[in-house]
Amino acid sequence: MPASSDSSSGSASAPVTICVIGSGYVGLVAAVCFAEMGHRVLCVDNNEAKVAQLQRGEAPIYEEHLPEMLARHLNHGVTFTTDLAAAIRPAEAVFIAVGTPQGSSGAADLSYVEAVVSQIAQAMNGYKVLVEKSTVPVYTNEWITRCMHRHGVASDQFDIVSNPEFLREGTAIGDFLHPDRIVVGANNDRSADLLRRIYAPLTTGGYYHQPNALPGPCSADQPAKLVVTSAQSAEIIKHASNAFLALKISFINAVSNLAEAVDANIEDIALGMGLDARIGPRFLRAGLGYGGSCFPKDVAAFSWVAEQQGIDFHLLDEVRKINDRQLDLFFDKIRSALWTLRGKKIAAFGLAFKSDTDDTRDSPAIALIRRLLDAGVHVAATDPAAIEAAQRVLPASGALTYTDDPYAAAEDADAVVILTEWCQFATLDLNRLNRALKFPIVIDGRNLYSPDVMRDHGFTYVSVGRPAVYASTQGRPRKTPL
Ligand code: NAD
Ligand code: UGA
Repeated sequence: MPASSDSSSGSASAPVTICVIGSGYVGLVAAVCFAEMGHRVLCVDNNEAKVAQLQRGEAPIYEEHLPEMLARHLNHGVTFTTDLAAAIRPAEAVFIAVGTPQGSSGAADLSYVEAVVSQIAQAMNGYKVLVEKSTVPVYTNEWITRCMHRHGVASDQFDIVSNPEFLREGTAIGDFLHPDRIVVGANNDRSADLLRRIYAPLTTGGYYHQPNALPGPCSADQPAKLVVTSAQSAEIIKHASNAFLALKISFINAVSNLAEAVDANIEDIALGMGLDARIGPRFLRAGLGYGGSCFPKDVAAFSWVAEQQGIDFHLLDEVRKINDRQLDLFFDKIRSALWTLRGKKIAAFGLAFKSDTDDTRDSPAIALIRRLLDAGVHVAATDPAAIEAAQRVLPASGALTYTDDPYAAAEDADAVVILTEWCQFATLDLNRLNRALKFPIVIDGRNLYSPDVMRDHGFTYVSVGRPAVYASTQGRPRKTPL
């Protein structure tokens, strides 16, 4: 089926009964948002504790608007259960939103998807559309079809659609209800039409007319756009989009290293580049490199897909190399600012892989703290939302303490390192911070402050892709011009 784009198609917006399998960042957000759009949703997870928490109306993750959405729709539009078969039976569409982590070869580990498909096959009681919401490699739709056949489900009883998710953690609800685009990869009209019906409240603009609709960039006049492609193309759109965004970040990080070498300023460079509409200003923030549960694994998985097809896509290896190196360079900056590390105390501002989330999966902050601990540093770590998650992977010890107060973390520390771009860390009382520290040294992996402002407040301030500034009492190391 050739690709087509429509913003108003989709017949009546009759409610659809939807089963969502997986209640993580994607499944849970999709479930409450589908309920918000007027559908009946049954959300399944095999984690009993999580389901019990959801049934009590408690959000298991830190995500803006999630508590209100849960309160609004729990037991009306959305119910939570561990009983997959019971949730499948009434559903017209079954969204698979379980994890697809990185396997040892770099390929996505699809064992959770396969386990779920086997369970769906056993619960089938009539035609249903199975929707890949998880990020999966191209041809997964064919593997799912094969798996359904192996379990004795006839071809006319199901279709597979790829409907990749593009939400970002921290803005997930807003992204879902105000998407840049909705991609539907379907190999026939029947299944594409069901997806059109599901998204009709967004694509016809009907949702944005509602008095309590979440405000955002889409509106009744500018509704969400839905693009229909083949299943293979949709699977590739997801991997290629994440890989491209990762590439953009690695590109600006590589430029930041050049900027630093010649005393230029990466923030000015990114501004100057981003004003070109063909480049755009977003995802041009230099820093510690990208982390999180998606970019690292999706770049690796996309690279594996290309390799399997005999395609030379070494560009992706460079993207990864630059990203890994970025953390090495930052660690070196800390070492050169402090001379030696063993026995020093460093306040680490940030644990989450980015701001506005409690997610520490593949967080550059956690990786950096591990290195500091290995080097014999005492770390006092703080984060507005991710302390609990961080403690699960890095338990507190004699060398590592946690506090929710950044000034307490900075007390008597040899330096502060800024690892996550929380607005709380961008709006600190700099005089108070200076007084708390043993030495006024800030090494900022997220470029949250202007070097001039930091110098005026008496700090030695080292950031990414910008000239360092030195507190007046500290000599500036000699730099060799080109
Ligand atoms: P997650 O780990 O937060 O959630 C997965 C959920 O699936 C967990 O709650 C787990 O208990 C549940 N689960 C696993 N096996 C199950 C089974 N057999 N039956 C029922 N439940 C089961 O993962 P996530 O971050 O939501 O990501 C899910 C997928 O979406 C991944 O493929 C990811 O790449 C993709 N994705 C994630 C994001 C994001 O920002 N996190 C954005 C877009 C796409
Ligand atoms: C990313 C994509 O942005 C989503 O579109 C996609 O749906 C999702 O992955 C996914 O597939 O899971 P997310 O991982 O939530 O979303 O977070 P981003 O905002 O993309 O940030 C990813 C990492 O890149 C973070 O570590 C962040 O700090 C870093 N980043 C981002 C930069 O270093 N510079 C930037 O300019 C932007």
